Amino acid sequence: MHVAQLTADDLAQYRALMLEAYAQAPTAFTSTPEERAAEPESWWARRVANPRGLTATFGAFRDAELIGTVALELNKKPKTRHKARLIAMYVKPEARGLGAGRLLVSSLLEYAVAQSGLEVITLTVTQGNAPAESLYKSFGFEAFGVEPMAIRGPEGYLDKVHMWHRVRADDGTTVELGKTRA
Ligand SMILES: CC(C)(COP(=O)(O)OP(=O)(O)OC[C@H]1O[C@@H](n2cnc3c(N)ncnc32)[C@H](O)[C@@H]1OP(=O)(O)O)[C@@H](O)C(=O)NCCC(=O)NCCS
Repeated sequence: MHVAQLTADDLAQYRALMLEAYAQAPTAFTSTPEERAAEPESWWARRVANPRGLTATFGAFRDAELIGTVALELNKKPKTRHKARLIAMYVKPEARGLGAGRLLVSSLLEYAVAQSGLEVITLTVTQGNAPAESLYKSFGFEAFGVEPMAIRGPEGYLDKVHMWHRVRADDGTTVELGKTRA
């Protein structure tokens, strides 16, 4: 298995994987498969290879098959460009528990610390999603609040835990990025 930043060549595989994600893990995401299936190709193209460099999307590949993904959404606004959001984390069920999720987060954090001026990564995780919360905590993400009634689905309202991770200290040095598995 290897992880690489996605390019326009991966668009079709990425779209298929994310449409699977919204259907397979509906409580983990705020989007539905139907609304994302309706997005034009240009939306997916911006996600995998943003022309303004505002999104970096990573893929875990087993041979040539895309089996997992995560993305980092950056900001260009002067007052918020020190922050970025980890979004759209998914590993196919048959590939879980093998380290793909860890490799993806590790690659995203390596990319993040290489971005000048980027200091903080935030994310949200649905309360009760133990595998994801435990993965993020193992890299140093900390919960700073819980948003009640954050999403509403067929199963009712679900809360979202908001987490953050500081990747650069006051003096500009990179902080501990958590454990990685060989
Ligand atoms: C969360 C998810 C991405 C983890 O991917 P994965 O490839 O199985 O993760 P890994 O095998 O790399 O495991 C990494 C860590 O995640 C945590 N983890 C993974 N599966 C877990 C489980 N079933 N229970 C508890 N913790 C778990 C552990 O901390 C693990 O580290 P360890 O193996 O050193 O104990 C995957 O379960 C998934 O896609 N879930 C559905 C979508 C989702 O919830 N996305 C997150 C949205 S915020």
